[in-house]
Amino acid sequence: MMNKKMKKALNNQLNAELYSSYLYLSMCAWFEAKSLTGFANWMRVQVQEELFHAMKFFNYIHDRKGEVVLDALAKPESSWDSPLAVIESAIKHEQKVSAMINGLVSCAIEEHDHAANQFLQWFVGEQVEEEANFGAVYDRLKLVGGDSAGLFAIDLEMAKRVYVPPAP
Ligand SMILES: [Fe+2]
Ligand SMILES: [Fe+2]
Repeated sequence: MMNKKMKKALNNQLNAELYSSYLYLSMCAWFEAKSLTGFANWMRVQVQEELFHAMKFFNYIHDRKGEVVLDALAKPESSWDSPLAVIESAIKHEQKVSAMINGLVSCAIEEHDHAANQFLQWFVGEQVEEEANFGAVYDRLKLVGGDSAGLFAIDLEMAKRVYVPPAP
C-alpha cells in the first residue's frame, strides 16, 4: 500500500505525462502545418512515448492498490516562431519533467517507499535519454542556422524515427 502523499504525487505525474503527449501533439500539428513532415513524424513518435510513460504510472498506481484520478489537461502552447523555438520549448519542458521525477524520487525516499523509488528509477534514466534526444535535434538545428537546405536535410532524418515500445 502507498501512503496518501505518494499516491497524490504519482497521480500528478500521470497527468504531467498526459500533458507532455498533448504538448508534443500540438508541436506535431505545428510541423504538419509547415509541411515539415519529418519533424511531425518525430513528434508523433514522441507522443506515443509520452502515452507509454502515462500508462506506466497508470498501471503502477493500480498495482499498488491506489486510485487513478484523472485531472483536466492544460491547453498546450500552439504557436512558435521557428522549428528551433519549438525544440527549445520542448527542451525546457523536459527539464521541468526531469525536476518533477527527481522530486518524486525524493518523496519516495522521505516516505520510505522503496518500491516507488525502484519504479521511479526507470524514469530517472528515461529523462536523461529524453533531454539528450531533444538536445541533439536542437544542436543540429543550431548548426544549420536559417539555411533551408539544411533544415530539409534534418527533416529527412527526422522522418526515419519509429516508435519502439520499451521492454516491459
Ligand atoms: Fe515523459
Ligand atoms: Fe524516451
